[in-house]
Amino acid sequence: MFRKILLFASAAAMAAITVTAALAYEVPDQIVLTRPKGNQALNTWITPVKFPHGFHAIRRACRDCHHKESDKTLGQFVACRQCHTDDDPNEASGFYRAWHSPGPPSCLGCHTRMRTEGGKNPVGCTTACHRPKK
Ligand code: HEC
Ligand code: HEC
Ligand code: HEC
Repeated sequence: MFRKILLFASAAAMAAITVTAALAYEVPDQIVLTRPKGNQALNTWITPVKFPHGFHAIRRACRDCHHKESDKTLGQFVACRQCHTDDDPNEASGFYRAWHSPGPPSCLGCHTRMRTEGGKNPVGCTTACHRPKK
């Protein structure tokens, strides 16, 4: 019985810490996704991608995308580009796959899946994401 109470108390303490940490960052509204230093584009027509982050953050859970976020990281929300740096398109932890892997949390993975459920999620390479430079 005593053990149960202790566990409950520490769970409550953890929740309090998470809430405090949650106030320590700002949720960006608009982001332009940038290539990490030294990473080579796979093609010349690839332009930087504008990402309406706030739009997504009110529709989906943070962890749907920030997949390494846990109670242990206490809301650090490390940018994808800090880990996903490799320019090999076949590398799961590389830059390309973070946005294009067939399953979520990649952009294309989630959008493709949601379209099969009737969503209007854009998926065109140059119409939705890599818009040609004017
Ligand atoms: C649809 C996917 C998605 C959702 C949902 C999402 N994010 Fe993000 N978030 C991203 C991407 C992509 C970036 C850009 C990372 C990069 O530039 O490498 C980002 C960046 C951030 C950054 C800036 C990180 C930095 O150091 O530049 C913070 C903070 C953040 N998100 C917090 C949140 C919080 C809090 C939530 C939930 C309320 C959330 N995000 C929901 C995908 C998402
Ligand atoms: C702390 C480092 C780290 C951060 C931050 C991170 N990732 Fe990852 N990611 C990885 C690693 C490592 C893998 C390889 C599989 C695994 O260990 O989970 C991976 C795998 C993936 C995959 C699966 C790729 C595949 O084809 O199997 C996707 C998609 C992905 N990450 C997207 C993202 C997005 C989007 C963000 C930011 C919102 C992000 N990751 C943030 C380290 C990270
Ligand atoms: C976990 C799921 C998920 C991920 C991952 C995701 N999206 Fe989305 N995205 C959505 C949803 C849901 C919508 C709204 C679809 C609708 O209106 O039917 C959306 C819509 C959009 C729109 C259209 C916005 C508008 O004003 O209508 C853009 C642009 C977009 N996403 C870009 C991205 C980019 C770039 C990434 C990767 C960095 C990404 N998304 C990752 C779920 C996701």
